Amino acid sequence: MKKLLAILLAMSLSLSLSGCQSVTHDKPVVSVAQLVSHPSLNLIRDNFKKEMKRLGYVDGKNIELNYADASGQVANLNSIVNQFEDKQSDVIVAIATPTAQMAARVSKDIPVVFSAVSDPIGAQLVSNLKHPGGNITGTSDEVQIDQILELAKTLTPNMKTVGFLYNASETNSVANLKKAKTYCANHGLTLIEGTGKDITELETSASVLCQKVDVLLSPNDNTVASAMPSLSKTATDAGIPYYVGADSMVKDGGLATVGIDYAQLGKETADMVDQILKGKKAGDIPVKVYKKNLFIYVNKKTLKALNITLPDSVAQNKKLQIVG
Ligand code: TRP
Repeated sequence: MKKLLAILLAMSLSLSLSGCQSVTHDKPVVSVAQLVSHPSLNLIRDNFKKEMKRLGYVDGKNIELNYADASGQVANLNSIVNQFEDKQSDVIVAIATPTAQMAARVSKDIPVVFSAVSDPIGAQLVSNLKHPGGNITGTSDEVQIDQILELAKTLTPNMKTVGFLYNASETNSVANLKKAKTYCANHGLTLIEGTGKDITELETSASVLCQKVDVLLSPNDNTVASAMPSLSKTATDAGIPYYVGADSMVKDGGLATVGIDYAQLGKETADMVDQILKGKKAGDIPVKVYKKNLFIYVNKKTLKALNITLPDSVAQNKKLQIVG
């Protein structure tokens, strides 16, 4: 009996101790939510980690870093953000638009730093980029649709019809569809939309579009990026040049893009977290939009498969990066 009591006492003691730990943590807690594991978001996460380390944060020692991946499911995002709240995180980092939208909706008092949100205003995360206000800030990877379509005209001079392939439930892609529509209307091009909410549906839409269009175009859509190796194969097999919204999508077989180097975003995200941990209010940190220092990315294998020769204006461009 005595022994049993002792065990019960020990158990309740350890329970209350562990309960105690979660109430007052001795080191700051930073929790990172990622929508899905595609190369570009992984690169952002890895560069965030690297920069945190460079800033002197050692996980388990002077900081607690948590990472969670929602496997592309918005429903998972909800419970991930709830868990981050339960852990009493000091900052929540939200990678990609749907993640940021969920974090902003669910997290009441915890500052949110979003990363790689194409259109933070359209996604209703902030109403002013310079002065976000509230408890949120972050980085944006605005897509240069006009410049991508200019490149498309240079590499595919006879194009008349553009197939725009995206997931209609990604706010970030809807914003870019608008820009593409405006460009096409102003340049005598016809735009045809194709949508899909998962890889299978996107595959079907891609095959249908390839019968009707001269080129395919996808913005930096997370669902498309996750399906890129197979979508780019479908396009190239059909002889259709596929222009895309991110360097990683060119690496995964897309023909070309004009865009940023995403490594910078992860670094900047960590710098913002650092400022908040040092006492700055998230809403006082301007959103950083990456739209300068652009590169032209071209996939060599895809170029060859489509039998396209780069004109001198592109081949000699100092900003050209050949991948693949
Ligand atoms: N900008 C995307 C968003 O707002 C996220 C993203 C970052 C992305 N890099 C990408 C999407 C590359 C596709 C490909 O959600």
